[in-house]
This record gives sequence, C-alpha cells and structure tokens, in this order.
Amino acid sequence: MKKIFITGGTGGVGSEVSLFLGDKYQVYSGTTNENAKIRNCKMILIDITDREKLIKTITEINPDYIIHLAALTDVNLCEEKKEQAWKINVEGTKNVTLAAERVGAKLIYASTNYVFDGEKGMYAEEDEPSPVNYYSLTKVKGEKEALNYSNSIVTRLCPFGLGAENRQTFTTRVIQELSKGGKINLFTDQFFSPIFTYNYVQVLEKLFESDFTGIINIAGSERLSRYEFVKKIADIFELDSNLLNPTKIEDLDEVAKRPRDTSLDISKAKSLFGDIFPDAESGIRQMKRIRDKDI
Ligand SMILES: NC(=O)c1ccc[n+]([C@@H]2O[C@H](COP(=O)([O-])OP(=O)(O)OC[C@H]3O[C@@H](n4cnc5c(N)ncnc54)[C@H](OP(=O)(O)O)[C@@H]3O)[C@@H](O)[C@H]2O)c1
Repeated sequence: MKKIFITGGTGGVGSEVSLFLGDKYQVYSGTTNENAKIRNCKMILIDITDREKLIKTITEINPDYIIHLAALTDVNLCEEKKEQAWKINVEGTKNVTLAAERVGAKLIYASTNYVFDGEKGMYAEEDEPSPVNYYSLTKVKGEKEALNYSNSIVTRLCPFGLGAENRQTFTTRVIQELSKGGKINLFTDQFFSPIFTYNYVQVLEKLFESDFTGIINIAGSERLSRYEFVKKIADIFELDSNLLNPTKIEDLDEVAKRPRDTSLDISKAKSLFGDIFPDAESGIRQMKRIRDKDI
C-alpha cells in the first residue's frame, strides 16, 4: 500500500484530506497536537520549522507522497506576526521540500487563490502572482521553495469542507451560526471558485499517478461571490438565508487587505483529468450527503 505523509493533517483541510485518504492508503497525518486522532491514520507529531527533526521523521516513514498543508493561515495574524508567518510558511515549506527530496517522494503543496491581487479574476497558472497581504506573500514564496524540487506540484485552490471533530472551518462556522439564528455579513463583491475537499482529494489521487509537475489550479467549475456561496449552503442545509447580510469588501475593517476576485481558470486541470470539477451546488450537496452518511 502506498504511503502518504500529510503536514497540517489536523487542520481544517488536512483533517478531511487525512480522513478521505485514510480509507485507501497508509496515511501518516502530521500534527502539533499530541491528543489528535483521525480514523485510519497514524498520527505523527511534527514541527515543520524544526528541519533536522522533520527530515529524520520523514526519512523513517519513507512516504511515496507528501501533501504539504501545514501553514499559518490566519490572514490577520500573518500581518501582525510576520516573522512567525515567514518561519512556518516559507522556511517550513523549504524544510518539507528538503525532506521530500531526501526520500524521493512526490511533493504536493497546497497554495492558494490568494496569491493574486483579485483585480482580474479567472486566473490561469501562467498569471503572475501579486499578493496584497503578508499571508499571500508567504504562500508565493512557499510555492517557489516547493518548485525548487523537480518532483513537486503546487496546487492553487480554495477548498471548503466540514473539517473533522474539534476542527472548525468557514463552512462549519457558517452552519453553526445560522443554526442558532446568528446573522452573518458576507461580501457580494468578493468572488472565488470553491471546491469541496473531497473533490480536491479525488484530483490529488489522479496527481499521484500522473507525471505532471509544476503549478496547477484545482477549483470548482463555478465563479461566485461569498454571499452567493453561503446562500447555497443555507438553502441546501435548510437554514434561514434571511440571516445573511450582504456587504461590500470596502466595508471590511481588518488588518489585512483581501483580494476581490480570485476565481481560478481550471482549463489545464480539465485537459489533464477530464470534466471532474463540480460546481458549488453539487459540491455542497455531496458534502451534505457525506455528513449525513448517505454515501
Ligand atoms: N482553508 C482555505 O480556505 C484555504 C484556501 C486556500 C489555500 N489553503 C491552504 O491549504 C492549507 C490548509 O489550510 P487549512 O484551512 O486547513 O489551515 P488550518 O486549518 O489553519 O490548518 C493549518 C495546519 O497547519 C499546522 N501547522 C501550523 N504550524 C505548524 C508547524 N510549525 N508545524 C507543523 N504543523 C503546523 C496546524 O497544526 P495543528 O492542527 O496541529 O495546530 C494545522 O493543522 C494551507 O496551506 C492553506 O494555505 C487553504
């Protein structure tokens, strides 16, 4: 059975990636939390900023694939704690890349649609990144670190999902808030093309087998605003969409700037893997079926 090592294995995205892959592969899920548990995964304590120890750990496991998801993802915190953000997102990525190279594992790095300034939308892989905040800058630098290794893939994505027990995601926070009758402010003028984590994992499995290296967008087939996306969640989960309060990005009063339209062009991924990229509604319905254990 192929071995997969996942960094950030207990994060919002990583917990679902670990869960979905754990049924089919031997998954080693890297975490900083010694009490974390994920079904069918072996939990491995790691700190990606400790190069020597990380390389030793990964060398002992000798995985076929490394999925690098660990990062400091709080956009405002990255603005306030730049040194920490750099250490985890750039130097940490360098360390993971060195470890992948040492064992000859294929490296898949999770980058973000936030590498772009959001002025154009529907970005292709060839478009030049132009980060508008420090988080995004560190993710761009992380991409460069990962691409220093010839057997690496940078996936640019904007995933959504339900995380795992004790791990909230944007989607679970929305569902929780609406369930208790709380109002939510949502931008009508910030656009993206979200993909359900399960569908991201399906593409990862194709990438394992393919000889593709370099940058690839992995996104849903639909560009929509944050407001439209959450309205679909509310409708499908039978929650009260009157609680959604439409706002504009200029109303945002936060430390870090946010890009306006970071939707992604997935022509390249489609040409490689076929038309397997669902629209937001299909992804949300599938997420609900999985939550309700209908499949
Ligand atoms: N969620 C999104 O909307 C989105 C969009 C685009 C791209 N991405 C990318 O996808 C990846 C996963 O995102 P996410 O939403 O799952 O983030 P998250 O929920 O914040 O999880 C981040 C993970 O990184 C781990 N981590 C942080 N510092 C570490 C360190 N020094 N050593 C080892 N592990 C460390 C954390 O470990 P613990 O759990 O043990 O604390 C956590 O599991 C990130 O690279 C992010 O940039 C996410």
